[in-house]
Amino acid sequence: MEKKLSVAAGSEPQEVAPESYRFLQQLLYARSGLVLEPGKDYLVSARLGPLARELGLGTVNDLCALLEATRRPDLTRRVVEAMTTNETSFFRDPAQFEAIRKELLPRLRGRRAALRRLRFWSAAASTGQEAYSLAMVLLEEGLAEWDVEILATDINRQVLERARSGRFTQLEVNRGLPAPMLVRYFRRIGLDWQISEEARRLVRFEEFDLRSSMRTLGPFDAVFCRNVLIYFDADTKQRVLTELRRTLMPDGWLLLGGAEMLWGNEALFERVRSNAPAIYRPAGEQENC
Ligand SMILES: C[S@@+](CC[C@H](N)C(=O)[O-])C[C@H]1O[C@@H](n2cnc3c(N)ncnc32)[C@H](O)[C@@H]1O
Repeated sequence: MEKKLSVAAGSEPQEVAPESYRFLQQLLYARSGLVLEPGKDYLVSARLGPLARELGLGTVNDLCALLEATRRPDLTRRVVEAMTTNETSFFRDPAQFEAIRKELLPRLRGRRAALRRLRFWSAAASTGQEAYSLAMVLLEEGLAEWDVEILATDINRQVLERARSGRFTQLEVNRGLPAPMLVRYFRRIGLDWQISEEARRLVRFEEFDLRSSMRTLGPFDAVFCRNVLIYFDADTKQRVLTELRRTLMPDGWLLLGGAEMLWGNEALFERVRSNAPAIYRPAGEQENC
């Protein structure tokens, strides 16, 4: 049987057997909805090679064989978590945060004045930079006295644990965080930076699989679902977008990744007229409602 060559970080090239590759594709899809495209052997090897070695196994193929034979839940989780892409940064797609500051918040400040309550969701939060960026915007806009909550969820427990700690490396704060925000909302701990309690208390982190029912969540004034739908197939994208629409207030915003669009689900959402990319609102609602 043909075997493909790939390179695991810090080790000799590893072969990912076609049967191992197929097993991983099925496992990943079943457990997370993520689609592992053909030909990503390098990625598989780089992400799972270290786990295989940590477990004293020779190769990724041995890891797949063990998983297939035992179906160990702890191992399954670690494999799925290792295969998720967790790339993120502070104020990613800054124009969207500007739009929140200049367009959404002034409007909500008027409309929600009676309850003084705002709810947001960072729906694929990774290590937390997205949710904390929003928290800093809300604080900068003087909303600390309001009843504000940012729910931040992800399927990956490891990244959630990091997010919850609120601790970031120098490299992470160098990416997208304006210097005045660093000075104002972080303090140095050894080589790392710790987000202030003031910002952290606005964010609640929870594990959540985007393919689950969202009936008990919301309603939200804005949902960030950025740079995750792109990894799903058309059916999953549609299911998630349909559920997301239900979680939004009629005048709420859905923010997708800067380069993402609705993939044929234009009946659910329409573009918000804004200079920022990829901001949507529930379709069929009054623009000024
Ligand atoms: C590329 S990161 C995006 C982080 C952030 N939203 C941003 O745009 O910077 C994608 C995240 O989606 C998460 N993810 C993947 N599949 C998921 C699922 N089925 N449910 C919830 N989160 C998922 C991954 O664990 C990862 O942390």
